[in-house]
Amino acid sequence: MPGKLGIIGGGVMGEALLSCLLSKGLYKPESILVADLSHERRQLLVEQYGVITTHSNREVIDQSDVIVLAIKPQVFDSVARDFAGIVTSDPPLVISILAGVALSRLEQAVPGWPVIRAMPNTPATVGCGMTAIAVGSRAIAEHVATAEQLFTAVGEVVRVAEPLLDGVTGLSGSGPAYVAIVIEALADGGVASGLARSTANKLALQTVLGTAQLLQKTGMHPAVLKDRVTSPGGTTISGIACLEELGLRSALIEAVRAASSRSRELGNQ
Ligand SMILES: NC(=O)c1ccc[n+]([C@@H]2O[C@H](COP(=O)([O-])OP(=O)(O)OC[C@H]3O[C@@H](n4cnc5c(N)ncnc54)[C@H](OP(=O)(O)O)[C@@H]3O)[C@@H](O)[C@H]2O)c1
Repeated sequence: MPGKLGIIGGGVMGEALLSCLLSKGLYKPESILVADLSHERRQLLVEQYGVITTHSNREVIDQSDVIVLAIKPQVFDSVARDFAGIVTSDPPLVISILAGVALSRLEQAVPGWPVIRAMPNTPATVGCGMTAIAVGSRAIAEHVATAEQLFTAVGEVVRVAEPLLDGVTGLSGSGPAYVAIVIEALADGGVASGLARSTANKLALQTVLGTAQLLQKTGMHPAVLKDRVTSPGGTTISGIACLEELGLRSALIEAVRAASSRSRELGNQ
């Protein structure tokens, strides 16, 4: 990866990103500079990863070729002030992972600089994330390639037009919560059928994980896998009939739609 990476906000997502980038050898610790207000966070990041830390956002801005904004959206305006008044002929790429902060607002904070908005999800913290990126008006192919490389370190990456980030938020952003409920409910069903809780939890988790991996590795359509598991008059079709009757399919569709529309509402506030 080119030059120095700056991360403003060394919290959960900032740490997830830097730890995966280091473990994949995409950056060396001395090429990553992290700004965080918390002394404890800075100390932890130095001790655990050997990266350079500072309390000064301006230091990160001045020394980095790529800057990832990983602070909470509520403090964006105050962090934006640290970018004010910088004159440079070779501006760094700014990548924001802040939920609900539009490209137009980001570009206003750093006029003329290349900006990319990224929306990762929580599984990024274990390197299995899903990130969607939306590209600002000043970013060129080289910047997009850099953002894709960065987020590939924490999982998969897709590129979408900015208005579709609300749909991304409703699906992959909120999705880990839906899947967690599905896993919990499957385990409850196992307990209701007489299994010990620990056994039921293990069966439910591994079934979801294994099915996802099978679909991903083979590229099989989910409907094909469902048909393969379903024998005439068998157990699975009885279970599926029950799911259809109780509306699992439409519950999930409506959940994604509701979360996407809430994301749109929050972005417009
Ligand atoms: N977590 C997710 O799954 C997820 C998914 C998609 C997008 N995001 C986005 O990622 C961003 C970060 O989320 P997170 O979960 O990593 O939050 P987080 O753990 O709270 O991390 C933010 C860090 O920034 C520090 N900070 C606060 N004000 C600062 C300032 N002015 N300058 C520099 N650092 C400052 C915070 O320190 P203090 O704790 O001392 O305030 C904290 O260590 C959010 O905007 C969120 O929308 C998160």
